[in-house]
Amino acid sequence: MIVSNKLPADIPTGEGTLFDVIDPATEEVIARVHDTDEPEWTAALDRAAEIQPEWAGLAPRKRAEVLRDVYEEITRRTEDFARTMTLEMGKPLAEARGEVAYGSDYFRWFAEEAVRLPGRFSQAPAGNGDILVTRTPVGPVLAITPWNFPLAMAARKIAPALAAGCPVLVKPAAETPLTMLLTGAVIADVLEKHGASRDLVQILPTTKSSELSTTLMANPKLRKITFTGSTGVGKILVRQSADNLLRTSMELGGNAPFVVNDDADLDLVLTCAMQAKMRNGGEACVAANRFLVHEAVADEFTRRLAESMSGIVTGHGLEEGTTLGPMITAKQRDNIAKLVDGAREAGAKVLTGGEVPEGKGFFYPATVLSNVPADAEILREEIFGPVATVTTFSTLEEGIALANDTEFGLASYAFSENVHTCRRMAAELKAGMVGINRGVISDAAAPFGGIKQSGFGREGGVEGIEEYLDVRYVAL
Ligand code: SIN
Repeated sequence: MIVSNKLPADIPTGEGTLFDVIDPATEEVIARVHDTDEPEWTAALDRAAEIQPEWAGLAPRKRAEVLRDVYEEITRRTEDFARTMTLEMGKPLAEARGEVAYGSDYFRWFAEEAVRLPGRFSQAPAGNGDILVTRTPVGPVLAITPWNFPLAMAARKIAPALAAGCPVLVKPAAETPLTMLLTGAVIADVLEKHGASRDLVQILPTTKSSELSTTLMANPKLRKITFTGSTGVGKILVRQSADNLLRTSMELGGNAPFVVNDDADLDLVLTCAMQAKMRNGGEACVAANRFLVHEAVADEFTRRLAESMSGIVTGHGLEEGTTLGPMITAKQRDNIAKLVDGAREAGAKVLTGGEVPEGKGFFYPATVLSNVPADAEILREEIFGPVATVTTFSTLEEGIALANDTEFGLASYAFSENVHTCRRMAAELKAGMVGINRGVISDAAAPFGGIKQSGFGREGGVEGIEEYLDVRYVAL
């Protein structure tokens, strides 16, 4: 049975030149959205720069109250947000509800941080005066957000920016603009209710993504760009940001290892493996890509993982019982199929899944591969789909070395019941985030971000707001 497939009536899809938004489970057009262009982008930035001083000058408590109300309002409308997300992105409704809770939590968290902007005061060592260190908002921000978490990835940019006193222009992914248009409408209403400008957050859907970023980044009124997406695009944006010396935060690709030691609790490991692999259908940059398992427990782990993966139910995200929706596009599904086919041709064993189903929708089944050759492309590339690869190791040194053998460094997962082994893995796994005996690490209260080719900057936690603040030193 399909739960109501109606989009909320108040999504401001706009008029004029339109582009299609597709339900990836049916390939049908579910909405048409205004395709913004220049001069709208520049007008939006002009407006942001104009209204920034008033917003930045507001009492932090007032900004906090706006953010708290946005959290309450999104939570109140959980079903509207979840249904919209499922329709445009494909994830099962239960997961979409989970994302509403996760994404809205960034507004609650940064409401709490808005009143705690850091500063310091000390006497100059020479005794000739005092040192006062404060923070000032960086200025108008451009946030470029991905399709995989249409609410949460933008929320964790918008919320700290507003808390810090910065207006934001959001360019949502062209595949999933509806959730962000609804978010923008909710935020505008809350801002207006508090007597602030509706334009502090402006949503700019467009099919001309690179023109938008090039235009806005060349404009000196923009002061910061924050991006979640591929490493390739991130590098282009960093290069472009140089001319105007913009502040940048880059949350880029991952290739997360999931290391299972011989002394790990296998029941816990299996629960966490399914979370780390199958959350969001594997379409997450923190998804476990490579299961590295001690040879003593590899057979049991692999058998049980394949059993759990073959129990996954693929279907429309609004259909009751669905635990895996479609991939976002045919291109994304075909990339996954290519990686699996390449591994199979190189000698990997397909234990479950591995075939693109016939019919409408961009579906790919939950898949487990064992005996994957060390040089297979699937071990180097971010899979971004429901495919688990299992590789074995015989010593902890070897397991850690395999885990670190990647150009990425976003998330790592590691499992052991021995506290010394846990401490060692936490210290030696090279990633911005390490989950020890945990399958889900994302939390609005924790700093999310990577190292190496996974980018720089942190989102969430007390660290997240620093990305939107400049340090000011006053000599007294
Ligand atoms: C991502 O896939 O970019 C982020 C996932 C998360 O926040 O957990």
